[in-house]
Formats: sequence, C-alpha cells, structure tokens
Amino acid sequence: MIRWIPYFLVLINMSSALKVMTFNIWLSGAEVKDGIEKIAKQIREVNPDIVALQEVEAPDVITNITEILGAGWYGVHHCNSTYPDTGIITRHKIIPGTYVHVDYGMHVKIQLEDTKRQVSFWSMHLDYRSYGPYACYNKLVNSEKQILAGEMPTTCTGRVQNMVQLVTNENFTNQIRKSNIVPIIVAGDFNVPSDEDWTEENKAQHGGWAFEWPATKILRDAAGMKDSFRELYPDPVANPGITWSTVNKFQKEWDYTIPEPEDRIDFIFYRGPLRPSSSFPYAGTSPLTPIPHQWDNEWPSDHYAFITEFEDLPTSTEGAVRTKPVDPVYINRHGRDILRIPYPHCEAEIIHGFEEERGGETTPRPRRRNRVHVRARN
Ligand SMILES: *[C@@H]1O[C@H](CO)[C@@H](O)[C@H](O)[C@H]1NC(C)=O
Ligand SMILES: *[C@@H]1O[C@H](CO)[C@@H](O)[C@H](O)[C@H]1NC(C)=O
Ligand SMILES: *[C@@H]1O[C@H](CO)[C@@H](O)[C@H](O)[C@H]1NC(C)=O
Repeated sequence: MIRWIPYFLVLINMSSALKVMTFNIWLSGAEVKDGIEKIAKQIREVNPDIVALQEVEAPDVITNITEILGAGWYGVHHCNSTYPDTGIITRHKIIPGTYVHVDYGMHVKIQLEDTKRQVSFWSMHLDYRSYGPYACYNKLVNSEKQILAGEMPTTCTGRVQNMVQLVTNENFTNQIRKSNIVPIIVAGDFNVPSDEDWTEENKAQHGGWAFEWPATKILRDAAGMKDSFRELYPDPVANPGITWSTVNKFQKEWDYTIPEPEDRIDFIFYRGPLRPSSSFPYAGTSPLTPIPHQWDNEWPSDHYAFITEFEDLPTSTEGAVRTKPVDPVYINRHGRDILRIPYPHCEAEIIHGFEEERGGETTPRPRRRNRVHVRARN
C-alpha cells in the first residue's frame, strides 16, 4: 500500500509541471554569430513553458525568435516600440487584455494549454547603472550608505525605485491578493544580488561586505514572494547559483587584468499554489569562450539563464491573502517620486510563431499581419 503511493504522486506532479526560464539575450544576440537563431535554439532545447526575456532591443526580435520557434509559440514585448527591452515567450496561450507594464518590466496572464490553470507572469529588467558589486570591490567605499546610493539614486530610476514601482502597481497588488488561486511569477535580470546571498560566511568573496541588497528584499517583504532557487538551496555558500557572467570574466577597460565580480543577479520569484522542484543556472551544453573571443560561442549571452521547474500544490480553499505594505523605509527615501510618474497608454501585441493555414500545413506568418492587439489599460 505505502509503496505505490509515491509513484502515483509522481505521475500527478509530472502532468502539472511548469518550467520557467529567464534569459537575458545580450543585446538581442548581437554579440555572437547568428545570435537570434542561437537564442531560439537554446529556448527550444530547454523547452520551457514560459520564458522571460531581457535585452529585447527592438520589436522584431520577439517576432523573429517566435518565427524560428514555429507553430504553437507566442510572444509579447514591452509596448515601448523603440526599445521594448523586456518580453515574454510561451508555448501556451497569452490571454488577451492582460498586458500590463511598469517602466522596467511587463506582465501577461498565461493560460496553460492542457488545463484551466493560469499564471500571472512578469518579465523584469531592473536598471543596470551603478552596479552594486563594483562599489563593494572598490577599496574607497566604507559605508553601506555609499552602496545604497547606487541602488536608489535621486534620479529615481534605481533598482529600489524600479521594484517599488512594481510592488505598488495596482495590477500587481491585485494579482498578489489573488495569488492563492492564480500563481504569480516575477522573473528577470535584476542587475543586483539577492539580500539572501551576501552573508557573513561568504563576505571574503564579496570585497569584505555582508550586505542586504534591497531589490529582492522588497519583493520578499512587500509582496511575500519567494526566490525559487533559494527555497531549494538555502545555503549561498554551498550553492551560489552564479548567473553573471558566462563570458564577461575580466574588465575590458583594464586590458582584461581586473576580474569581474561573479554574482547571482537573475531570479525567478513566485507566490501561490506552486512548489519549485528544481532550479539551476543554464548556459547550454557547449564550452564558453570569454570576451573578446565569444563570437562563435553556441550560448549567445553574457548571462546564464535561470530555469525553475514548479510542481502544483493543491489550490488553497482559503480566502484571498493580504499583501503586506511596502517597507516604509524605501517609500520615504526616493520611492515616492516614482509613484507620480504617469504610465503612458500604449499597446502590446501577441505575436504568433506561425499561422495555421491550408489543411493543417504551417507556413511562415507574413510579417505585420493578423496580430492581436491588446490595449494596455493602466
Ligand atoms: C528579423 O528578421 C528580419 C527579416 O529576416 C530582418 O530584416 C531583421 O533584421 C531581423 N531582426 C533582428 C533583430 O534580427
Ligand atoms: C522607450 O525606451 C527608451 C529607452 O529606455 C526611453 O528613452 C524612451 O523614453 C521610452 N519611450 C517611452 C514612450 O516610454
Ligand atoms: C489594471 O488595473 C486597473 C485599475 O485597477 C484596471 O482598470 C485594469 O483593468 C487592470 N488591467 C489588467 C490587465 O488587469
């Protein structure tokens, strides 16, 4: 009796697994030969249910990747038509009318093909400037205040403000409130390490600093989200989970003599009836040649992608959970200003890999036709 129960559970879990990938595509593949093809090839090999993309430099990047992936793949990018930067690709259905964006990321709701399950999915790419680990390796930095100045600059475009903008977005807080029914996933390149990673135990590897980086802390404290990788691997010493960098090993300005700090800056956070079952950084299966000799690499990015596989937990029957308020420290500094930025109205379009035509045969979709336009409503 006892013996067969585990097998039964395994079967259930297999049928409801959800594989999520976050993938910074390094200037849309421009730094390697046939970059767009290689991006699509890596996605096809991983075969995720949903991919969060960053460094989507133009709308046709998503069009071209989904076209190479082919029938059954769909994509959507941030509605900024000159520089979308974030995008989402999936082999499931993007629900029209669910597009929402913030300045540094975007969301759609996805209906998983074989079931009635839905996921609220955000792809984020936080600001890259004043990269914190550079400050920590600088021997002239001696206070946390100096490091924090880079995370929340007075320009209001820092990673703290980016994250405050997300967690105070009305659509996001509504999704969090309903996350016991529809899980919410926030994946992306945060350009900053985790508050759980720079501890006393590993400070020797971090320029002597143990430091609570704020961006992930805001997501955990203000939105009750969990980092899928740290849930499975709580010890940052044993499992650093480095994603930066695959090929950026030494700083170019000093003739490749100063090593680049290595950190985990790409994340898959979740909240809701999901349980991570595996989580790992990924950079393909071929050897990586560092910058400046990366042109022929099979892996097209300077980041590792991150992959988390989730299993469903039974949907809770409890009432909607409440969001904790955002930590007032972050609001009181510069966060408040960013709340005043009006969001532009703009459109996002769902892009199909192929159109089905003529008796089931698939032909490449003619460009700029048959797109479903989705009105952004925030
Ligand atoms: C997308 O494909 C079109 C047609 O092949 C090409 O002209 C364009 O440069 C491609 N864009 C990117 C970003 O690769
Ligand atoms: C689009 O993105 C670019 C680059 O980040 C930015 O300069 C521009 O203001 C954005 N456009 C809109 C309409 O938000
Ligand atoms: C976003 O929130 C606004 C305000 O609550 C709401 O009117 C709109 O429908 C929401 N958009 C989506 C896609 O949920």
